[in-house]
Amino acid sequence: MGRKKVALIGGGQIGGVLAQLCALRELGDVVMFDIVEGLPQGKLLDIAEVASVDSFDVSLQGTNSLADIKDSDVVIVTAGLPRKPGMSRDDLIATNAKIMKSVSEGIKQYAPNSFVIVISNPLDAMVTLCQKITGFPYNRVIGQAGVLDSARFECFIAWELGVSVKDVTAMTLGGHGDDMVPLVRYASVKGIPVMELLEAKYKDKAKAKEVMEAMVKRTRGAGGEVVALLKNGSAFYSPASAAISMAEAILRDQKRVLPSCAYLNGEFGVKGLYLGVPCVIGAGGIERIIEFKLDAEEQAMMDKSVAAVENIISVMDKMEF
Ligand code: APR
Repeated sequence: MGRKKVALIGGGQIGGVLAQLCALRELGDVVMFDIVEGLPQGKLLDIAEVASVDSFDVSLQGTNSLADIKDSDVVIVTAGLPRKPGMSRDDLIATNAKIMKSVSEGIKQYAPNSFVIVISNPLDAMVTLCQKITGFPYNRVIGQAGVLDSARFECFIAWELGVSVKDVTAMTLGGHGDDMVPLVRYASVKGIPVMELLEAKYKDKAKAKEVMEAMVKRTRGAGGEVVALLKNGSAFYSPASAAISMAEAILRDQKRVLPSCAYLNGEFGVKGLYLGVPCVIGAGGIERIIEFKLDAEEQAMMDKSVAAVENIISVMDKMEF
């Protein structure tokens, strides 16, 4: 019985971390494809040479030939430009849509049975395009956004309350943009609502609300905060970790509940659109979407996020590439 095979399309900042995490967790043999000669070969040689120290048994191959992704079980796509300071994710659409189109044609040709996890931005549009070009069933084409956005929200809550992030649960829904929907009502520390804990901390409801609003705002702008600091790229450790948790859930059939960019067919009142929602991820990719009732305020935020995603999709639909 052979090992599983993971293909990484794009060998830049995120691609490099993805490869290292795949190796450390022994998710399977790794093939990294990039158009830049020597880049994927050099990165994977670098990681492979430390296998005895890190104690992993997987093979790592860098390539400039897309045919080498043949028969991959999971394909993770990061090909495309990252943001520069002052840019929104949507500003990347013209360049990245062209790249996504060519990459998706290759996936369709060489890895027709794979599960695809898209990271390239603007995320919701890129997943939509990838599914359209590959023609793969919706459960096999997923976008990474919610795992990272939720992790950022959890991180800010843990810092604010001075508790381990391991005991914090929070989730964001909607598109991967400034209109994402961090769910305040369900944010908890070991099941205790975060709002209750903030009210206890500040002994003032208005102040607790203000602190939560600041965390929500920071979560929405967290990617931009990193871009502004790095100046010549965007976050790469965190999106890689987030996508690896999704890949692992598929490869190890974990049935993890992970907020993911999934195709909605009426769920949450949305039809025919990729959007961030809680999903059960296992050997069948997106095995189920978990629906629950949003309150009026959450629904209004969701509606705004849906409109933003529909807008970027309509921009893409008018493009010629
Ligand atoms: N096929 C394969 N790789 C490509 C292609 C292509 N057609 N076009 C570009 N690439 C490669 C580049 O050569 C580069 O190595 O994609 C890689 C992108 O890497 P970085 O520029 O370092 O970007 P990264 O930080 O990894 O982000 C990638 O993910 O989060 C998103 O917004 C981010 O869209 C960006 C993507």
